[in-house]
Amino acid sequence: MTKRFGSLVALDDVSLTLEPGSFHALLGENGAGKSTLVKCVMGYYASDKGAVIVDDVERIIRSPRDAHAHRIGMVYQHFTLVPSMSVAENFALARADLSLVVDWPTEHRRLHEFLKDMPFKVDLEAPVSALAAGQKQKIEILKQLYLASRILILDEPTSVLTPGEADEILGLLHEMARGGRLSVLMITHKLREVVAFADEVTVLRRGRVVGRGRMEKLTAQNLAAMMIGGSELPPPAQRIAHTTGQVRLRLDHLCVDDDKGHQAVVNVSLSVHAGEIVGIAGVSGNGQAEMVEVLAGQREASAGTITVHGEPYRATRMEMRRHKVFCLPEEPLRNACVSRMSVAENLAFRVFDETRFTIARWGLNRAAMRQAASELIGRYHIKASSTDAPVSSLSGGNVQRLVLARELSGDVEVLIAANPCFGLDIAAIAEIRSQMMRARNRGAAILLVSEDLDELFELADRMVVMFNGELVYETPIADADLAIVGRHMAGH
Ligand SMILES: Nc1ncnc2c1ncn2[C@@H]1O[C@H](COP(=O)(O)OP(=O)(O)O)[C@@H](O)[C@H]1O
Ligand SMILES: [Mg+2]
Repeated sequence: MTKRFGSLVALDDVSLTLEPGSFHALLGENGAGKSTLVKCVMGYYASDKGAVIVDDVERIIRSPRDAHAHRIGMVYQHFTLVPSMSVAENFALARADLSLVVDWPTEHRRLHEFLKDMPFKVDLEAPVSALAAGQKQKIEILKQLYLASRILILDEPTSVLTPGEADEILGLLHEMARGGRLSVLMITHKLREVVAFADEVTVLRRGRVVGRGRMEKLTAQNLAAMMIGGSELPPPAQRIAHTTGQVRLRLDHLCVDDDKGHQAVVNVSLSVHAGEIVGIAGVSGNGQAEMVEVLAGQREASAGTITVHGEPYRATRMEMRRHKVFCLPEEPLRNACVSRMSVAENLAFRVFDETRFTIARWGLNRAAMRQAASELIGRYHIKASSTDAPVSSLSGGNVQRLVLARELSGDVEVLIAANPCFGLDIAAIAEIRSQMMRARNRGAAILLVSEDLDELFELADRMVVMFNGELVYETPIADADLAIVGRHMAGH
């Protein structure tokens, strides 16, 4: 399979064989070409060269519908279920042969029959919106099995799951493959999952196969070396011991309502000093998102105040520039970019109205913007086909590198980061964490909200636990104890 996007060769003569009844991992860094490969197989993309061969016969696959006809199904990284419908309705909806008028009693009987010999149980009547991420992912998989897929492709299926949920689901898929019911091709960048569940692995790097083999002959170290192609991971930045400076960011009795008008943040008071990373730990949904939205200027507080450098702060664009406040949000494509605009334009959001980027006051100096973008692309190792490519064509890790380049390349006094490494690969994570540590060492005040306790233990100087909208526990990182922090996160 070969696939080009303009001048970028996303897949360069890639071959892969999926044995019947095997669990095959497709491994590689962000931007390696993993999603492109399976999208070519599923008929989302037309490859420039190459063939899909099923049971020794070359098949023409022009759309996912064609792929389904050959019993190839795919589970996406993001959920595709209709939240307002029940589980049963979602199953029925997925069938291509569904008649206009659904005979629900028959449909239900069929579903119950089908579920009888499935390894996991689901509540057919539950509305999808009420289900946890793990449940939804199981239903996505069951849906494919209901459509009688025997080749199941999964694109980073565990990125939305907790480690416990991931193990459960991958274990079940492994069993089904072993039982000969399925052949599984799973995209991942998590070495742990490959080592624990895969029979075979193919490693991609920059669109090429750089390694493959049976897992019993490979170790996690072998795989990591193949993924990053011998290049070293950036060493983690050292935390420089220094006394912290004055208060840069201060929240005083801050209260924030969520979309439904319920109080999501309750009387939160907190200070972040220059040269300090304050980590906010907590299970998602305890008010962190609403708090970050207020700090980023995307939501109004209902009470309380925020000050930066002792001045009242409402997160307007002017204030952010004056006080050098920057943000690294999760899902950067949605929260920090305009996806249909180019890489160069997205990199210039903070500065496009500065004189160096304008011509005769009103026009944008595109050449200067492109040149500045090229420089940042090189410095932050952003993989993009050109400065004019739409930012939506970048992989997740590269979108976050772009946001990082935009937010951290200048002088940073306050940084608000919310799950900045969520869903990214090892190299991107290492780079982003090291850049945050360096910003702290240079004297930035950083508020790091994260669901990843490892990340907080690595980066924070001080850890605060948020539960039910309140800050319930605080400790210097040197004295932080995982068990105690975990108890407070659970509200005990
Ligand atoms: N629709 C597209 N247009 C242009 N470039 C794309 C498109 N989709 C992917 N790419 C580029 O192809 C390369 C491989 O991307 P992808 O297959 O998504 O990587 P992976 O899934 O391994 O992270 C990346 O450099 C990405 O920017
Ligand atoms: Mg991908």
